[in-house]
Amino acid sequence: MDFAISFVYDWFDSEKPMTQTSTQEENELIRHVLKPLDLSVQETEDLLDLASDIEKHREKYAHVCAGKKLATLFYEPSTRTRLSFEAAMLNLGGSVLGFQSAQNSSASKGESVADTARVVSCYADIIAIRHPKEGAPMVASQHATVPVINAGDGGHQHPTQTLTDLMTIRALKGHLGDMTVGLCGDLKFGRTVHSLIHALVRYPGMRFSLISPPELRVPDYIREDVLKAGNIPFTESESLEDSISGLDILYMTRVQKERFFNEEDYIRLKDSYILTEEKLKKARPDMYILHPLPRVNEIAVEVDKDPRAAYFRQAQYGVYVRMALIMTLLGVEKPC
Ligand code: NCD
Repeated sequence: MDFAISFVYDWFDSEKPMTQTSTQEENELIRHVLKPLDLSVQETEDLLDLASDIEKHREKYAHVCAGKKLATLFYEPSTRTRLSFEAAMLNLGGSVLGFQSAQNSSASKGESVADTARVVSCYADIIAIRHPKEGAPMVASQHATVPVINAGDGGHQHPTQTLTDLMTIRALKGHLGDMTVGLCGDLKFGRTVHSLIHALVRYPGMRFSLISPPELRVPDYIREDVLKAGNIPFTESESLEDSISGLDILYMTRVQKERFFNEEDYIRLKDSYILTEEKLKKARPDMYILHPLPRVNEIAVEVDKDPRAAYFRQAQYGVYVRMALIMTLLGVEKPC
């Protein structure tokens, strides 16, 4: 278990200890995706290939999950992730059920994530869960009897956004690895950043330029245990202007308001970076701009028409990778 979630895991686990039942044995055979590293590099490549095939031949996949159900358990707000999971399952001919906020679920009555996961396993074939607490999807996976996908847990991980990002980078650059990726904004709380770094360090020739205010630098467990431990070249800086010219990809992120303990800090930091056409003059002509969205102020709307702006295309890829992931975890064969 990684350091970032160990203490929260203890909290969840003590809610309801898992008994040694057949559920545990069944569980060991089920494949979950809680973090990007739950898929090997080869599996990731296969999944991205499948997503690309889906993009090209949507009609071929229209019924492959007929009769299957996806449950979306969203304890935290979401537009893209929840809707793209739902669109993904509907595109595959399956159906969806779920809730959009903790208030609309039995969590408001005090039900544990463990119990909800166990019960929802009786209604659905696969679960996508988003939760504000790090480690909640892992707890769900230990009690569910169907595959569980982490759709974002607190400031920790967001593996399906990472698959989306990888598909986008691969489509734009033709390959993964041998490039400098700039990550800019809230690198402390941004779970998409943490997951993307974990995934990208597995490709040779990766370099990172980490651009953030000092208060929002990447957590130590990423800097020390992932980057330094893996001998991955990286720089940390406060200035987007100084860093932009050396980048192949610029990954902008929103300052994560909901993870701040006090509003004053958020207000002070929220507009630390605003990418404009003027700033883009220093960037390479083939430096693509990604953003997991939602955008607040960090990319001026004028940038949307720049040919290097790839964030809306990225959102579209999110549906294809989620279709590919659902098929993979349900063991659905690729149609001929
Ligand atoms: C991201 C998330 O939820 O972490 N959004 C998303 O899933 N597309 C990024 C964010 O909310 O800033």
